[in-house]
Amino acid sequence: MIEKINSLRSEIEALKASGAAEVEALRIRYLSKKGAVAALMDEFRNVPADQKRTVGQAINDLKNFATERINALRQSAESAGADSAALDLTRTEAPLRCGTRHPLSVVREEIIAIFSRLGFNVAEGPEIEDDWHVFESLNFPADHPARDMQDTFFIGRNPDVLLRTHTSSVQTRVMTTRKPPLRIICPGRVYRNEAISARAHCFFHQVEALYVDRNVTFADLRQTLLYFAREMFGTDTQIRLRPSYFPFTEPSAEMDISCDLCGGKGCSFCKGTGWVEILGCGMVDPNVLDACGIDSREYSGFALGMGVERITNLKYRVKDLRMFSENDVRFLEEFTAAH
Ligand code: DAH
Repeated sequence: MIEKINSLRSEIEALKASGAAEVEALRIRYLSKKGAVAALMDEFRNVPADQKRTVGQAINDLKNFATERINALRQSAESAGADSAALDLTRTEAPLRCGTRHPLSVVREEIIAIFSRLGFNVAEGPEIEDDWHVFESLNFPADHPARDMQDTFFIGRNPDVLLRTHTSSVQTRVMTTRKPPLRIICPGRVYRNEAISARAHCFFHQVEALYVDRNVTFADLRQTLLYFAREMFGTDTQIRLRPSYFPFTEPSAEMDISCDLCGGKGCSFCKGTGWVEILGCGMVDPNVLDACGIDSREYSGFALGMGVERITNLKYRVKDLRMFSENDVRFLEEFTAAH
């Protein structure tokens, strides 16, 4: 009898159930009126009187053990059931995490907004270009270093299929297809064959602006630049134009703005000069107008081009250019409040 009780105990100990229905079946098998424990009670009548005490105790223990075991099985079946019922795989994560706009997009949109207040419209051109639109039409002499393999990515072996190295190519796309007056702003990605580092990347972004009409002068350019600088960097911003050279503008200039970190006094950011360079500009070279079929005796224009990464760095002090293209959400989420 004791042996029987013990083997039933190990049987019950090893029980498993994967659902409320299975647990109920086990309860019936062991604990109901017709179950295994009740059957032992029936047999108890035949146990000799001197063993009744020990056997009775053992049956009682077994009954308690079986009850506890089956209750435990019921509980785990219920909580597993509750979990899977509560798990709604179609639900959106809570709290809802909103994406953020990329800092370069924020700044690009701001540049476009400023120029559109002056009547400039967005124009776009292809990233895969030909030599004429990127160099030839823009008055690059045949041996100009920017045409060198060092700077330009060519596609395949054809030297006439290349990735644009600047958005100035959109100027010529527009000038050859539309008639002045033209007032365009061209945002876009550009490519240069450079070693990737914190300060240089093989692709980056530019915004180009072009204004062609009768009687456009350097004064128009300067006032446009001043307006842009003050809208972008604050009303106290000063600008400075330094003579420079670009093949497609004559005269050409580079524009600096007063360093907004030190207010022009000189600091490590502006290398003690009080000024930081932000863009290149100039009067469209008559050769460029003529190459694009616009009569340079009748029309004149100005153009300017700036790097979006550079402007973004000035606004948000991003130290490493590579962060812009790594898509690290910890970096991107820092710009949640930027728009
Ligand atoms: N294309 C020049 C560059 O990539 C930038 C530039 C300079 C654009 C002067 C212009 C300009 O339109 O007038 O460095």
